[in-house]
Amino acid sequence: MASTPGPFSFPMAHVVLFVFLASAIFHLQQRLARLQPPGEVQTPAPQPTRERPTAQQLQGMWTINAVGRLGNQMGQYATLYALAKLNGRPAYIPAQMHSTLAPIFRITLPVLPSATARSVQWRNYHLNDWMEEQYRHIPGRYVRLTGYPCSWTFYHHLRQEILREFSLHEHVRQEAQQFLRGLRVNGSRPSTFVGVHVRRGDYVRVMPQVWKGVLADRGYLEQAMQRFRERFRSPVFVVTSNGMAWCRQNIDASRGDVVFAGNGIEGSPAKDFALLTQCNHTIMTIGTFGIWAAYLAGGETTYLANYTLPDSPFLRVFKPEAAFLPEWTGIAADLSPLLKH
Ligand SMILES: *[C@@H]1O[C@H](CO)[C@@H](O)[C@H](O)[C@H]1NC(C)=O
Ligand SMILES: *[C@@H]1O[C@H](CO)[C@@H](O)[C@H](O)[C@H]1NC(C)=O
Ligand SMILES: *[C@@H]1O[C@H](CO)[C@@H](O)[C@H](O)[C@H]1NC(C)=O
Repeated sequence: MASTPGPFSFPMAHVVLFVFLASAIFHLQQRLARLQPPGEVQTPAPQPTRERPTAQQLQGMWTINAVGRLGNQMGQYATLYALAKLNGRPAYIPAQMHSTLAPIFRITLPVLPSATARSVQWRNYHLNDWMEEQYRHIPGRYVRLTGYPCSWTFYHHLRQEILREFSLHEHVRQEAQQFLRGLRVNGSRPSTFVGVHVRRGDYVRVMPQVWKGVLADRGYLEQAMQRFRERFRSPVFVVTSNGMAWCRQNIDASRGDVVFAGNGIEGSPAKDFALLTQCNHTIMTIGTFGIWAAYLAGGETTYLANYTLPDSPFLRVFKPEAAFLPEWTGIAADLSPLLKH
């Protein structure tokens, strides 16, 4: 981490020029390949440095690892976006991140071709999951940020730009809107939509075994939903989950204001994610998918708080106050299942 990159050399200049051209071609291909409904206006952010590779060479090139699924990669994208900007460096995303995010969002950062990603001598720089003062001055022209950052502390000052980067493609948004328009509570169209994300899947095992923690239980979901029923007239709850069978058994739908939606397929999360962001408010449980859905939906958010034991190793890599916005409402988890044995 302490090594300094060598002086700029001619082979490097060729690499940079190659990256620049390849990235432009890659983006063009992606644009053409994507089916755009006619009339849709694409407004990519202005990228003044693109026409001047010389300036780019001097500035270097920053990227970030693409690890985990949608929520993780959104955190990595937004963190790269914000830290590169803060340090005055051009940001490039790995091709893998592009294929995760570009089918859903109108992201604008250029893509680093895999060949370049391999040939550049990157200086790896590990990030904690919260902003630190030293990240304002990260040295190096060819830096690859690493880690699982997903914290508003990196990018909340750029909120409008982040929201624009993660705005949905029109056809994705339309599909979600069409679904919401079809919902009825007591025969009328609801005016308040509450997206509910119930994270289960691998966490059912990992949370208790690795992190000494719990998942959201039926008590949490009932409390959170009650809170919204008290605050809004006849809201509808749009439930998405990667454990829908559990949800159907544990969420009381007898009032007629709960709809089990989405498909819960983790490999193609666009539909679930779009539904959540098009709702007005969010009930999340745990995980970066829910955090991002709440951040983008932008309304009132309820989250599961303090869901690990105080001595959990989870709290060494996760700072709750850096993950949940101060205005969000936490409901403390019931940890009693962990204390039984
Ligand atoms: C549906 O209407 C009935 C009768 O007005 C009311 O008691 C009930 O609370 C309504 N249900 C919901 C979910 O708003
Ligand atoms: C709530 O969400 C619906 C569906 O996206 C939207 O049509 C409506 O304008 C939103 N209401 C408010 C007050 O933002
Ligand atoms: C979670 O724990 C912290 C520290 O003990 C406490 O300050 C906070 O109020 C708790 N949050 C909730 C929602 O209970």
